[in-house]
Amino acid sequence: MMRGRTMLVAAVIAVAAAMAAGGRTAGAAGDGDVQAFRERCATRLSISLLGKGANEALLASADPQSGVDALLESGDFVERFARFANAEFNRDPGKNSAEDASYHLAKHVVKNGKPWSDLFLGPYKVDATGENGAVQVTEDAAGLGYFRSQPWLLRYAGNELAGLKIATAYRILNNVVGLQLMATTNAPDADVSATGRQAGSCTGCHFQNWYALDHVASVLSKKVTNDKGEVSFKPYEGGAKDLLGGKSIADDKQVVQALVESENFSFQACRLSFKYLYGRPENQCEGPVLDRCITAFKATKTIQSAMAVIAKDPGFCQ
Ligand code: HEC
Repeated sequence: MMRGRTMLVAAVIAVAAAMAAGGRTAGAAGDGDVQAFRERCATRLSISLLGKGANEALLASADPQSGVDALLESGDFVERFARFANAEFNRDPGKNSAEDASYHLAKHVVKNGKPWSDLFLGPYKVDATGENGAVQVTEDAAGLGYFRSQPWLLRYAGNELAGLKIATAYRILNNVVGLQLMATTNAPDADVSATGRQAGSCTGCHFQNWYALDHVASVLSKKVTNDKGEVSFKPYEGGAKDLLGGKSIADDKQVVQALVESENFSFQACRLSFKYLYGRPENQCEGPVLDRCITAFKATKTIQSAMAVIAKDPGFCQ
């Protein structure tokens, strides 16, 4: 009896010890893994959104992805994203700050939680009108995002022989819906006039596709250069044309409106967000996240809403 009890007690102690040892080992490894995962996630979010390491609070957070909305409101995000968008929208940096109108207006739009479409359609002017020529964003009822701001207009007026602003048309298409074309290098003897552009390999980009650059450019203002070499812009007054796959369009504003209303617009906002967060466009297996991004963006309209879907997806921290 005595002996049996002793053995029983001994057995119970052995089991408890085994459990304690096993439990402690497994528990330590598990907590460590979870902790490391959270810290990696916090760091990844902070680096991608703000361009700097995570702060203590985010590193200690049990769910770093729940902090995404706060990160999207920080000045660091606004600044970094405006720079990124500007770099995406231009082939090279502007000669001066006013030429980088998309940087200044993107900053204004994101900082104030405005719809992303305000960047292209909003009533603004971006010009070096501040103190000591500082670049300012001001309200302007005649504005069209940054597309009617003088420094930007001059930057992208192009050099087409008749003043047709093909370069402007392409830049608008590129910035609003992400159209990417490689302007083919002309052979020295190529006919670059409208006749030349209608021929051979030129006509696809310039006259035939839905984005037909010459057609879109034809409803923009014309570039006029006087004998002193000064450039001004003459409004188009020829009436509506059938452009961009069947839309009736009579000016630059209607071009931008048609693009913003197209499915490509939300797609491009989400692609831009993927590029910002991952340093590359979305890939095929990210289709479901892309779809949710587009749905959220259509409903909320801010670039932050697009960004949040991607950064909060479990896949972002894996
Ligand atoms: C793959 C599409 C594509 C093809 C093909 C193409 N172009 Fe272009 N072209 C463009 C784009 C894009 C621009 C605007 C470039 C920019 O941003 O300044 C452009 C601009 C131009 C301009 C205006 C340049 C300026 O400074 O305003 C001329 C002229 C021109 N192309 C002539 C031609 C001729 C001639 C051909 C055929 C030999 C041709 N292009 C073929 C895409 C194309």
